[in-house]
Amino acid sequence: MGRTAYGRRAGHNGGVSEATLPPLPSAERPDVAARLREALLAASFTADGLLELLGAPAYAALARSETVPALRATRGDTPLETLVRLFLLQQPVPHARVEDVLPVHACVESGWLTRAGGADGDVAATVDVRPYGGSDGEDWFIVSDLGCAVGGAGGIGNRDEGVVLGVGGASTTLAGITVRTPVASALDLGTGSGIQALHAAQHATRVTATDLNPRALHITALTLALSGVPAADLREGSLFEPVRDDETFDLIVSNPPFVISPGARLTYRDGGMGGDDLCRSLVQQAGERLNVGGFAQFLANWQHEEGEDWQDRIRSWVPRGCDAWIVQREVQDVTQYAELWLRDAGDHRGDPQEYQARYDAWLDEFEARKVKAVGFGWITLRRTASAEPVITVEEWPHPVEQPLGDTVRAHFDRVDYLREHDDASLLAGHFKLAPEVMQEQVGLPGAEDPEHVVLRQNRGMRRATKVDTVGAGFAGVCDGSLSAGRILDAIAQLVGEDPVLLRDRTPAQIRLLVEQGFLEPA
Ligand SMILES: C[S@@+](CC[C@H](N)C(=O)[O-])C[C@H]1O[C@@H](n2cnc3c(N)ncnc32)[C@H](O)[C@@H]1O
Repeated sequence: MGRTAYGRRAGHNGGVSEATLPPLPSAERPDVAARLREALLAASFTADGLLELLGAPAYAALARSETVPALRATRGDTPLETLVRLFLLQQPVPHARVEDVLPVHACVESGWLTRAGGADGDVAATVDVRPYGGSDGEDWFIVSDLGCAVGGAGGIGNRDEGVVLGVGGASTTLAGITVRTPVASALDLGTGSGIQALHAAQHATRVTATDLNPRALHITALTLALSGVPAADLREGSLFEPVRDDETFDLIVSNPPFVISPGARLTYRDGGMGGDDLCRSLVQQAGERLNVGGFAQFLANWQHEEGEDWQDRIRSWVPRGCDAWIVQREVQDVTQYAELWLRDAGDHRGDPQEYQARYDAWLDEFEARKVKAVGFGWITLRRTASAEPVITVEEWPHPVEQPLGDTVRAHFDRVDYLREHDDASLLAGHFKLAPEVMQEQVGLPGAEDPEHVVLRQNRGMRRATKVDTVGAGFAGVCDGSLSAGRILDAIAQLVGEDPVLLRDRTPAQIRLLVEQGFLEPA
């Protein structure tokens, strides 16, 4: 157990090195955080305010770590321009200008700002503060280390082992797929700058946030305070170490340091365990931390090893007593993978020989482990009371409609339905076609009959599935009024097929259409 009181002193240092990192603002001054929040909101330092000030291209460029367009758009001296320069672009700003916008003295005293010298007595920010719009339009702020708000092609601004990053694409992906049912308790494991904890605070009565890196916990405390959200229970330690043996949760989320790398270098991304062991441990240990009906949701990387089916590998991670839905979103060969993460750290901009040596080390590591590619995807567990848990592993690299939390929950509802219904009761069931399902006919131009028919759903996972003409006809008729069996009998009569045979062979197709969400039990 490693409970720690955060914000005891600015620049609190723990097991993870923060040799070159500046001291952090005090997390023990909620009064200053509240005043700062008020001032930021008064100046429209919000996601919408920024978009309006910068315009879409400069706003988008910032997300690519390109600051020149935003610097050009903030040459005036309005309060909002001052704040953007201070907190987003991390420019020193004359004291007198800041004084009109912020409680400078309190901010300097509590460590949010520092005196940067200069003829005008400039002040500078000590952390990056970035507006972040919540899913219900809340005005939140994400605090992170300077220069580390976004990753991207430019690489992170600081390569200290303990650097704490802001929100990236992975963070928002996990936030989007998380099931947002109101719950009593949620655990955000590896909280970083606190984005998952921030979301969880909206629908969980108690939020526990853990991290190996004490600096991340300190920053999470700042993010929550500045966002006007209740404080979380912050605990330091690796994986489930900070959780008591008898403690269970209704929701566990983790965007872990999933990168498979030749050595632990950056705490925010390198798990420090060999290969994909960190992700495996996380998934395996989550089962007994969940209440029945509770969800655990992870982003993860997994190895594709020679002579092994990746689906078998990932299936073997699922703990007993859990249903699971695992979606592989992307696969990269080992060279693409090494390059991605070398660039993420900005290594491609450094010494070419060092870059080459690091690249080589990465490939050595993969060769030794017989890894030919790496999969990236989502793992959702749901603790079940059923004696027959269902594990679904699939590949779906296509665009989806975020947020997907409701889609994830509906997937598990359908798992329950299908588990409880054998073929006979499926035929007695009533179904409705899901919203926005279209039929596509695929075949050669001019051909009389299509080669095959595809049903495509425009919502949620945006799935497409091949069906035969009976399947397509069946789906088209499903409006909940007739039982599946009655519909099949009518189709049999129409196409001149034996209704008994049709009732015999169609449940597998109905099962698939229900499993994939094209048909909903009415
Ligand atoms: C990729 S970041 C995710 C941050 C944040 N939750 C998000 O979604 O943006 C991973 C976080 O896990 C933390 N971490 C690294 N190793 C860990 C471990 N063994 N146990 C718990 N947390 C760890 C890192 O310090 C970092 O804050």
